[in-house]
Parts: sequence; structure tokens; C-alpha cells
Amino acid sequence: MTQSAQATAPLALRAAGIHRRFPLPQERLFAKRRVLHAVDGIDVEVPAGTTLGVVGESGCGKSTLGRVLVGLDRADAGEIEWAGRPAGAHDGRVQAVFQDPASALNPRLTVFSAIAEALPDLGGEERRARVTRLMELVELDEQLLDRLPHELSGGQQQRVCIARAIASDPALILLDEAVSSLDASLQMQVIGLLRDLQERTGAAYVFISHDLRAVRGVSDRIAVMYLGQVVELAPAEKFDAELLHPYSVALRSAEPALPSDEFRPERIILEGDPPSAVDLPRGCRFASRCPIARDRCRAEEPELRPAADGHTVRCHFPGELRLTRRRDEHAGGAQ
Ligand SMILES: Nc1ncnc2c1ncn2[C@@H]1O[C@H](COP(=O)(O)OP(=O)(O)O)[C@@H](O)[C@H]1O
Ligand code: SF4
Ligand SMILES: [Mg+2]
Repeated sequence: MTQSAQATAPLALRAAGIHRRFPLPQERLFAKRRVLHAVDGIDVEVPAGTTLGVVGESGCGKSTLGRVLVGLDRADAGEIEWAGRPAGAHDGRVQAVFQDPASALNPRLTVFSAIAEALPDLGGEERRARVTRLMELVELDEQLLDRLPHELSGGQQQRVCIARAIASDPALILLDEAVSSLDASLQMQVIGLLRDLQERTGAAYVFISHDLRAVRGVSDRIAVMYLGQVVELAPAEKFDAELLHPYSVALRSAEPALPSDEFRPERIILEGDPPSAVDLPRGCRFASRCPIARDRCRAEEPELRPAADGHTVRCHFPGELRLTRRRDEHAGGAQ
């Protein structure tokens, strides 16, 4: 979808001020209760027919955010609307696809039954016709209709899950690491399929992955998460050279380059691990690993601020650390 079409499309998802905290078991009877801040104040808007990517290291809160956004978990604070109405019980307006299709499918249900289960209001011929049409849409051979999950490949199993997800014509689909268990070429196939399906159905996606390349392959806009917060939100095309937050820059620089890549950035290696989500640091949460951190960063927490059209960043010194072209490129010896 073009930028201007996105601006006028109705919102499939609007979430504001989302928090999700997990109380930890009490260490001693009168000890202070400790709380893990998994999602710490996130706003999200996803226009119909577009994809919001969410990327970040393992443990930064992506899955927790995703589950809350589609009503599989509650928020401790914040508001959520699906297709313009308050989110309610998990209903047909939203669906989800997860990493492991084998565990999402009932081992005793055939492909037909698994998809038909998602169409409770249809009977007989109509149901059969719809299942066949859904299989066609996700490019599953009709001959697989009577197969059980263990007789399918991982890619085929995930296509069954996607067919089930689109069966109720949802406004929003959460895809949480949905291609992460597939090999690289299958990932690209399923991503292509997801894009085609979006053109046809107009569904919005929230596509979560630790893998920035997969996220870039499917998203219109991408939110980079660090320790429960969004640190940068930008159109996907800005993920080549226009990133502004040092963490996003490092993440992008660490992406393995493909021979077809025009832009291959110089690698920036981050030291250490993120701080604990229980004892949150003062100031910028990224300061302990940021290559350009200074006193102000450790004293004052940056806010998420608009930087340009549709681009927001949480950093006191946005754009100071940039992606640069790999040096071996200039010598002509790209590897
Ligand atoms: N049910 C839970 N109870 C306690 N802590 C949880 C629970 N679910 C997730 N967490 C914690 O919340 C943080 C974010 O986890 P998660 O959302 O799974 O991250 P990601 O998907 O980015 O890897 C982690 O520190 C994780 O250990
Ligand atoms: S605020 Fe400072 S420490 Fe945080 S990302 Fe920006 S430059 Fe780095
Ligand atoms: Mg996860």
C-alpha cells in the first residue's frame, strides 16, 4: 500500500499505553514483591491492509506484546481497539499464527477437518467448497485434504495454520515467529504468500520476529523493541541507511548479507546483554551497550519522539551512529 493510502485506511488495530508486568515469586515472606516489566508503555497503530513488523532480541517483550494485542493475554494498562471497536473476547476479528505449526494442529485432525473447524457456520457442500478455496489460496495441493499433520512437511503444516487464520476473514492477524522454523527459501515463499494474501483479504498483520531480514521482507513499517519499549519506528525502506537509533543500527548491521544485497553495512558489534527487566536502569535502557553513550544518557531517560514523517526514535542523539557501507565494497571485493 502507498504511504498516502495508508494514511487514509481505517485502523485494523489501535493500542495505546500498553503495559504488561509479571509479578515474580516472592523470595522471602516479607520481601518486597518484584515485578518483571515485559511490555512497558507501547502505542501501536496498524492501518487495514498493512503490516507492522516488530523486531528485537529474544526476551525484549515481542511475544508478550503480540499476545496482548490479539487478546490472548491481558494488559495491566492501556487500551486496545480492533477494527475501530474496543477489543473484546478473542473473536473472529483477530487471529494468530505461531512458530511451531505441529503443536498448533490437532494430530488427529486431517487437513480438511483442521480448516473446516475454523468455519463453524458453514455446512455440507458450502463448507467443502470454502476449504478447497482456502487451500488454493495458501497454495496447498487438494490431494493433501485427507492427510494428517505428521504426513505434512513443516511448510505445509504452516500453510494449514495460515488457511485456518484467514478462514474467518479477520481484520488482523498476529504472526509470531511464524516463519522462524522454516529454512531460508521456504521462509521467503511463505512471506510471498502472506503478502499475496494481504492484497486479497485486506487483513492487517503484526509480524513478529527476532530476524530482521524476515521482518523487512514483509513489513510496511517496523518497530524495534528493546527491554519492553519501542526504541524506533520507521517505514521498512528506511532500514537500509536512514536508521536513527544506535540499537536499530547495530541490529541492521548484524544482518547476514546476501549476494543480491545492494547495501551491505559495516558490522557494529554490541557487547554484553540487555539489563534485567526487573531492575530497570535509570536513564536510557540501552546505555550499557550503546557505542555512543555519555553522561546525559545514564541520567535522563529519552522519550519516543517524532524525527520525520512516520519515523519516531527514542534517543538523545538520534542519527549520530549511522550505518556505513562495508569497507571491502569500496575495494570491489564484496563478500
Ligand atoms: N508468563 C510469564 N511469566 C513471567 N515472565 C514472563 C512470562 N512471559 C514472558 N515473560 C518474561 O517477559 C519477558 C519478555 O518475554 P517475551 O515476550 O517472550 O519476549 P520475546 O518474544 O521478545 O522473546 C522475558 O523476560 C520473559 O522471561
Ligand atoms: S540515549 Fe544515549 S545511550 Fe541511549 S541510545 Fe541514544 S545515544 Fe545511546
Ligand atoms: Mg517470542
